[in-house]
Amino acid sequence: MDLHLAGKTVIVTGGGSNIGRAICLGFGDEKANVVIADWDEVMGKSAAEEVSKAGADCIFLKTDITDNDNVQDTVKQATEKFGQVDIMVNNVGWNVDQLFMQETRDKWEKTVAINFWGMLNCTRAVLDQMIERKNGTIVNLGSDAGRMGEFREVVYSGCKGGVIAFTKALAREVGRYGIRLNVVCPGLTVPEGKEVVGEKSLWAGDMLKIFTPEAQQKAAKAYPLKKLGKATDLADAVLFMASDRAGHITGQTLSVSGGYTMM
Ligand SMILES: NC(=O)c1ccc[n+]([C@@H]2O[C@H](COP(=O)([O-])OP(=O)(O)OC[C@H]3O[C@@H](n4cnc5c(N)ncnc54)[C@H](O)[C@@H]3O)[C@@H](O)[C@H]2O)c1
Repeated sequence: MDLHLAGKTVIVTGGGSNIGRAICLGFGDEKANVVIADWDEVMGKSAAEEVSKAGADCIFLKTDITDNDNVQDTVKQATEKFGQVDIMVNNVGWNVDQLFMQETRDKWEKTVAINFWGMLNCTRAVLDQMIERKNGTIVNLGSDAGRMGEFREVVYSGCKGGVIAFTKALAREVGRYGIRLNVVCPGLTVPEGKEVVGEKSLWAGDMLKIFTPEAQQKAAKAYPLKKLGKATDLADAVLFMASDRAGHITGQTLSVSGGYTMM
């Protein structure tokens, strides 16, 4: 199935690591123009090199999505370079598992800033041009945690639930301009290696040590398909949702998690 993404311009936030990186490579394979917006310069630049090697036009723009001025500047630079932004993929997310009662207010604020405010800043920054053109699509990365509420991910679950409700509500407002918004929810998606994990990734630190192959096998038992997802599974779903092939789909939430949630 041809997704007709060639020549379209996409901004992928958090494109340096794991799922975001696979999404950038996926758009690169389709010969879209890819803008990687990540605050990790090392990972963002190496992802951009990889996408460019696949023959796509790709740039890295250092961006902190929690900083609204910085986000607006990124969208401006992307628009100047490629003419317009057709697709925004709000992929950045962050959490460290902890019981709610043990979390500090600082951690709540960081969790809300990255998972909710960042998505809000990036979405608002692309809407004017999309409304003017009466065309555009936004794909937000949610989480099954935001659909069902996850143990030790309380504030994060609240933010991802917010991402889902925000996406539906805005899809109702801007559908009249031909703009579509959808959410793709990963289940547990362990990076395939250290080389796709930046130091600002939620997988930095001890996370990869915790998710040994044995631990992954144990976790997979909770999934009807008895396997964990790969970053490319998410990329495939995001590319489809971003493409005109999903032209009659808006305000929807798609779990790509081996059946972990079914709602
Ligand atoms: N991997 C999973 O198991 C899983 C499960 C459910 C949902 N998700 C969601 O999927 C998305 C991708 O997950 P992942 O595992 O690839 O995450 P990751 O932490 O590996 O990658 C996130 C990227 O975002 C960047 N980033 C973080 N904060 C930023 C900021 N303020 N500004 C700019 N860049 C920033 C990081 O540098 C990193 O490159 C997230 O939204 C996450 O919440 C992931």
